[in-house]
Amino acid sequence: MEFAISSSISFSVFLFGFLLLSFFTAFPSKAQLIPREEVEALQAISDKITNVNWKVTPTSCIKGDGFNNIFTSPPGVTRNVTCNCTFQNGTVCHVTNILLKSQNVAGEIPSEFGNLTHLTELDLYLNYLNGTIPTSFRHIPLVTVSLVGNRISGSIPTELGEIATLRDLVFEDNQFGGPLPHSLGNLSNLRRIRLSANNFTGTIPETYGNLKNMIDFSIDGSTLSGKIPSFIGNWTTILYMDMEGTGMEGPIPSTISLLTNLKELRISDLKGTTTMVFPNLKNLKSLERLILRNCLITGPIPMYIGEMTNLRTLDLSFNMLSGSIPDSFQNLNLINHMFLTNNSLSGAISEWMLQKYNTDLSYNNFTVASTSNCQSLQVNLASSLSSSVRNATFCLKKGLTCPGKPQYYSLFINSGGPKMEFEGNEYEEDLNQNGIAYFYIKDDKWAYSSTGTYIYNDKANYVASLQTNKFSMNVNGSEYYQTARLSPQSLKYYGLCMMKGGYKVKLHFAEIMFSDDQTFNSLGTRIFDVSIQGFKYLRDFNIAKEAGGAGKGITKVFDVDVNDTTLEIHLYWAGKGTTAIPTRGVYGPLISAITVTPNFKVPSQGFFVNDQRKEKGFSAAAIVGIVVGLCVFLILVLLIIILPKNGFLGGKDPQDIDLKGLDRKTCMFTLKEIKAATNNFNADNKIGEGGFGPVFKGILPDGRIIAVKKLSAKSRQGNREFLNEVGMIFALHHPCLVKLYGCCVEGDQLLLVYEFMDNNSLARALFGPEEFQLKLEWPTRHKICVGIARGLVYLHEESIFKIVHRDIKSTNVLLDKDLNPKISDFGLAKLYEEESTHISTRISGTRGYMAPEYAMHGYLTKKADVYSFGIVTLEILSGKTNTTQKSEEECFYLRDWAHQLKDGNHLMDLVDPKLGEDFNREEIMTVIDVALQCTENSPALRPTMTKVLSILEGKPAIQEVVSDDESEIILDDDLKLTKKQES
Ligand SMILES: *[C@@H]1O[C@H](CO)[C@@H](O)[C@H](O)[C@H]1NC(C)=O
Ligand SMILES: *[C@@H]1O[C@H](CO)[C@@H](O)[C@H](O)[C@H]1NC(C)=O
Repeated sequence: MEFAISSSISFSVFLFGFLLLSFFTAFPSKAQLIPREEVEALQAISDKITNVNWKVTPTSCIKGDGFNNIFTSPPGVTRNVTCNCTFQNGTVCHVTNILLKSQNVAGEIPSEFGNLTHLTELDLYLNYLNGTIPTSFRHIPLVTVSLVGNRISGSIPTELGEIATLRDLVFEDNQFGGPLPHSLGNLSNLRRIRLSANNFTGTIPETYGNLKNMIDFSIDGSTLSGKIPSFIGNWTTILYMDMEGTGMEGPIPSTISLLTNLKELRISDLKGTTTMVFPNLKNLKSLERLILRNCLITGPIPMYIGEMTNLRTLDLSFNMLSGSIPDSFQNLNLINHMFLTNNSLSGAISEWMLQKYNTDLSYNNFTVASTSNCQSLQVNLASSLSSSVRNATFCLKKGLTCPGKPQYYSLFINSGGPKMEFEGNEYEEDLNQNGIAYFYIKDDKWAYSSTGTYIYNDKANYVASLQTNKFSMNVNGSEYYQTARLSPQSLKYYGLCMMKGGYKVKLHFAEIMFSDDQTFNSLGTRIFDVSIQGFKYLRDFNIAKEAGGAGKGITKVFDVDVNDTTLEIHLYWAGKGTTAIPTRGVYGPLISAITVTPNFKVPSQGFFVNDQRKEKGFSAAAIVGIVVGLCVFLILVLLIIILPKNGFLGGKDPQDIDLKGLDRKTCMFTLKEIKAATNNFNADNKIGEGGFGPVFKGILPDGRIIAVKKLSAKSRQGNREFLNEVGMIFALHHPCLVKLYGCCVEGDQLLLVYEFMDNNSLARALFGPEEFQLKLEWPTRHKICVGIARGLVYLHEESIFKIVHRDIKSTNVLLDKDLNPKISDFGLAKLYEEESTHISTRISGTRGYMAPEYAMHGYLTKKADVYSFGIVTLEILSGKTNTTQKSEEECFYLRDWAHQLKDGNHLMDLVDPKLGEDFNREEIMTVIDVALQCTENSPALRPTMTKVLSILEGKPAIQEVVSDDESEIILDDDLKLTKKQES
């Protein structure tokens, strides 16, 4: 700003010098002065509205210094006051043009404009003016008046009908209301009326039929009622007509056929139920842009449309058009965008159609497609085929019904953004930039279908992020508000292959395209509709309005049913709101994230891992309850085939279990595949020895690297743990847990296929053989601590099973290529149920990591994991393994050493010397403190993992709500369990 002022001053000095020169050469003897009344009016205008800063004198026109003009390229940002100094023999100057564009001039429009008796042009494009238009405007001999993008309200004064000179009246993107004045119909010179995005009421006055010179009439996004008047047929010179999203009723009058000069015709979202056949546009041969969207048009597309060879954009979407696409469309050589989305078009999708640019044929009834792709080059074919077509790719057909078995219970998408985690859920990345006519599908799990181009800015983006925006703004709440997916027209998100049932759909929105300051950038209005499963839940939804401003998040929650494997969320722009603020092409749906969770209890695959229930055997109801898709099938197979051999099922008839229709292949690998991947379990591929057998590295034909855990089926315990792992791990997804890809059961082979972790285990990195040790700097170690804590918070509090891991140790923490930690080995994990007694009959865990109450009394709660986590944290801090036994007598216990150091105030001795001095001392002290708390003997004294995580992440301490009795259990000095006394 300062720079702008100083440069304008220097420019003015230059201009002054130049004008001084001209003064002596061209007009040596005459004074050219602005009349006093006009000087006063101009000065009053400047004084009343901010950011104008004129210093008007009678000589301001010739010396040029009074109006501090600035001209910039692009010409959108301009101050330009010009005068005509030829009056009274060149002795008098009058101000004729005032242009203040994108200046954020603020305040009420001053009535003193009415005193500018020679003002012909007033352009206040993109500012922050409010108030109403003063009736004094009737005195101004205006030819052109533009108030685009301000906050002006009230109705258009009927007095404007007295300005006989008026040609261009451009009031779009304001807050005008009331009826349109009839008086404007008197202005025979009027040729441009642009009133888009205001809140008018009533109909278009009959008198406007007199405006025979009309070339541009735009009322899109302005609420009007009534039928589209047939007098528009009088406007035979018109070039541009835009009536999108007005709320007017059809049909389109037949007189439209008379507007043969039209280059752009845009009508959309007509109200009412009156259908019509395609209007007669045969003689509109100059059309470059034709939009007749959602106008209830039935019947075929006329052949002559294909003869409009100037056509660049054609949008006939969301009608009821039938028949086939005319062959004449092949001749549309200039066409850039063609949207035939959502009609009943039939016949074949021919080869030539697939070669067109940006063409959307989705949601139709075609019977033949010469492709099996749902996105073919630049053509969107999602759901384009009739349901009667056989053997088509599923996404080409209506409903996008799951091609395999439904298997998903939830869906998390970070729209327009990267993969991220929030509240323990992993949000899928959604970064694809395409959206004009585009279908994107991710793994038969979710998809989006986007249609539409930004009118007048077809380069505008389909994804947005705060980082790439021109405003600096903070959005509180989840990270997913930082990014968004956008669409100028229609955006459908799909959850695919979802289990039948009721779901909670949360849609997260934050307006990040408008500013939240007092500039014109904040004046946009985004309005769109939201339907889920075909039902319109939100009409005229306005994010900023609902959230209380731009840059604020808002979540809308809906309960919906999924009956046929597909969840459809449709965001649709019905032509309303602004389209050019802060820049052209900012409009249409915007969504930040999607969270879909089941409203029903996900059938528990885990019940067979509970020792007690297992002993009771299975109830038929429980068995019905566990059918959770393919992965469970595996378990069922095991139950039927393997377990009875081992004397497991206690005589229960396995035929009770209905296996019909279950496809065993989908989530499993064959032994052959795994042998091929691991080079027949070659010893060179062995990467470790887990609790239940060796682990091998392998490569799948698709290039994925895997870790295969080979379990022996001979051991009964192995089988149980195997079941345990498979049942739960398939249902557990978290960035800090190792992912299970699948499994294999063949003969006596039990194999688990995991994602491969490039950096093996934390134990190896910290204190493995020297050649395998990794240099772990403090920030990495801190990240690892936080990651393990996150994984445990998920297991303890956020997952559907609420699991105690029971065997947290540094060999069970794996590191990916970026040294992110992932917890592995759920072989000991156990359902954690509130009603259980906490007393486990079988103790499993690893010496040195096990909490004393668990090791000695079998007393198992989440606090046992907290203890183990504390030990691992001590290992990370010290770089030392937790126990080393040099001889019978000489034993080193890391935990005891740490607590001794604490008593002697030498805690920093704990820190791994390899870290040198290169660490954040405060951070390391926090971590040491956490480790010590976690390794307290009494479970009651240990924090929960949630608390641990918030301390590690430096978040304010949370008040813990103690909901169960575990925190009351303490170990006395003799390590006996007692209950804490009320005090
Ligand atoms: C200033 O405005 C006048 C009137 O609209 C126009 O003719 C002139 O080109 C403008 N000057 C600049 C430098 O934009
Ligand atoms: C200035 O005003 C005179 C008298 O009204 C007019 O004839 C002339 O065209 C005007 N000049 C400009 C540049 O507008």
